Amino acid sequence: MNSTRFKLGKYTNTLTSGSASWSSPSNIALVKYWGKKEHQIPENPSISFTLDACKTITEIKFEKREGDQSTFSFEVFLDDMPKPDFHPKIETFFNRIEAYLPFLKEFHFTIHTQNTFPHSSGIASSASGMSALALCLMSIEKQLHPALSDSDFIQKASFLARLGSGSACRSLEGDLVVWGAHPEIEGSNDLFGVKYPYKVHDNFKNYQDTILLVDKGEKQVSSTIGHNLMHGHPFAKQRFDQAVGNISKIKNILESGDLEAFIALVESEALTLHAMMMTSMPYFILMKPNTLEIINKIWSFRQETGLPISFTLDAGANVHVLYPEKNADQILEFIKSQLVAYCQNGHYICDKIGFGAKQS
Ligand code: PMV
Repeated sequence: MNSTRFKLGKYTNTLTSGSASWSSPSNIALVKYWGKKEHQIPENPSISFTLDACKTITEIKFEKREGDQSTFSFEVFLDDMPKPDFHPKIETFFNRIEAYLPFLKEFHFTIHTQNTFPHSSGIASSASGMSALALCLMSIEKQLHPALSDSDFIQKASFLARLGSGSACRSLEGDLVVWGAHPEIEGSNDLFGVKYPYKVHDNFKNYQDTILLVDKGEKQVSSTIGHNLMHGHPFAKQRFDQAVGNISKIKNILESGDLEAFIALVESEALTLHAMMMTSMPYFILMKPNTLEIINKIWSFRQETGLPISFTLDAGANVHVLYPEKNADQILEFIKSQLVAYCQNGHYICDKIGFGAKQS
């Protein structure tokens, strides 16, 4: 697939001002993306659950500029407070996507954004934030070019979100999204995320994700650095091949509803992600002692009760506890009585599978 299809050519409308607003969720990968090529092309395919409660709400107001249009012009507010430290990331994003959105320098943008989860929760807001921003920009393009179809709109929004933050391209739709070309997933490609196109067993409907906030501080090593450390990593090839194999396996698991196999695959993926960090050069560890305490408690509880509780991790110390809706009462009780003590200030977020972004 070629990215030039996302260049629309001449717009049919002209605009002087307007606005666009979207809310877009976070997502949690089951098979992880870790390692990329140039232009945010993933080294391996990944699949994620779209979340429901953890989301970013963004509104952009735009106004035609007079005079010099050689630079981007925007201001950004988080919770109605000016946020100049967001500028470099947005500037980089605009530079990457300008070739696909030729109107970017013609307007001044006022961007208001807020997250439903605390900014300092250690939950990455890049997936929800970049996807919400990409969708707002696409809504402006749609106003300039109303003939744009719904499917082209969503594909291009995911394509643009990817250029902001790779995993952001998996946040637009739900309940499962695949990003990265895989021979057994029809339509899958490296340029944008696609809604998982096959049957999913009822066991996974409304799957729960309780996010235990173990460490709310800034990460010591960013994802960008982590991805780059996969270049020349001694286990890179094995890891990328394993991810391809795990996508094939999870396709069967999602169809059969085999929770035991699901748990084994998802936990192995989480630990492999962190093993890649620990075996890169330089090496680093993002898990904290309480991350390990929680993992061990989950394993003991699972052994004692036989309940299908599992965990996954993103690039940080927080633990995502995953379980079917029908076991929610017992598992939430266990989380509250045994795991919350390991969370910073006792903080955790009850989330579940969601269905993607919404225009507001
Ligand atoms: O989208 P990025 O560049 O922040 O990378 C995210 C990587 C992981 O969250 C660790 C895995 C994934 O697939 O989401």
